[in-house]
Amino acid sequence: MRTLNEHEPMSPTATPVRRQLATPPVVASPFPFHPGSLLSVGDLSLDEVSHLLARATALENEDPLDRNRILAKRRVALLFYESSTRTRTSFELAAKALGADTTLVSNLSSSIEKGETLKDTGLTLRSLGAEAIILRHNSSGAPWLLEDATRLPVLNAGDGMHEHPTQALLDLRTILTHSQGRETPLNSRTLAGFTVAIVGDILHSRVARSNMLLLPRLGARVLLCGPKELLPDVAAQTCPGVVIERDFDAVLQQSQAVIMLRIQAERLAGLQLDLEAYKANYQLTGPRLSAHAPEALVLHPGPIIRGMEITAGVADGPQSAILEQVRNGVAIRMAVLERALKPVQGVRS
Ligand code: NCD
Repeated sequence: MRTLNEHEPMSPTATPVRRQLATPPVVASPFPFHPGSLLSVGDLSLDEVSHLLARATALENEDPLDRNRILAKRRVALLFYESSTRTRTSFELAAKALGADTTLVSNLSSSIEKGETLKDTGLTLRSLGAEAIILRHNSSGAPWLLEDATRLPVLNAGDGMHEHPTQALLDLRTILTHSQGRETPLNSRTLAGFTVAIVGDILHSRVARSNMLLLPRLGARVLLCGPKELLPDVAAQTCPGVVIERDFDAVLQQSQAVIMLRIQAERLAGLQLDLEAYKANYQLTGPRLSAHAPEALVLHPGPIIRGMEITAGVADGPQSAILEQVRNGVAIRMAVLERALKPVQGVRS
């Protein structure tokens, strides 16, 4: 059912590719209104990213009973318009680990099905006492609209084909854990000399976009790899430190970490792909990995489609950090929730 009105963000399929892929121009933005919000990974300074990584580690190591007092009885709403396993569960477990009460509102079991707008759902949650909202939405820009409407801290858990800031933070934590001598505090040289490949369906991936916004700020080189249908030439044009290289083997030879992406079938909107050709050119297989990148770290935000973008042997193999990424999701989301709900000084209205 259609639930957006003309004041709400464009649907992902209606958004021009160029607008989706280009880095937005630098203009003074009133967003985020709330200092606890996390809408775009680009809103965080490197000091803030360092602080979040440090807090993730501290919270992970804290005694569970002490940790439980940090957000005791604070109310956190999870508002999910798209399905999710890792992001939703880890946000929920993170909130509960800090003592918060959580409630899940999903588009399939709420008044959203009856046509309620995002704005009205947000205002309803606020009236029910929600102090922060974690939002996953199929429209790019939806978290900005929700923050504008509610003035609550909003945490972007993935908006359309746009951004997924906590995924980029947990990917960074995973990469840093495996990179000797590259610990926090972060600076613009932390990942100097380090190349991260992002491979597959870049066009539809909010994970790719948030990583492209974060990793080059730490000095990393980002190589994008995929077929033209899923990686238009425009993708790298306005992102400093990001280049397109279509030869997967050549990409692997240069990379210390490779982030594999699923083909987002739900967003293809009629696009036809030759899957056999795709697998021949872009599937990460055991022989390909051992021939070209025997030391590289293999990441994937999940859900993985075994036998499509990655073989089962690689997903379960010694170079895979996929389940470590999942674990890092809880720690990062604890830090992000603590930031969202800690005492607020001066909220812009
Ligand atoms: C991704 C997402 O939803 O953006 N998964 C995730 O959050 N861990 C990637 C995907 O759906 O392929």
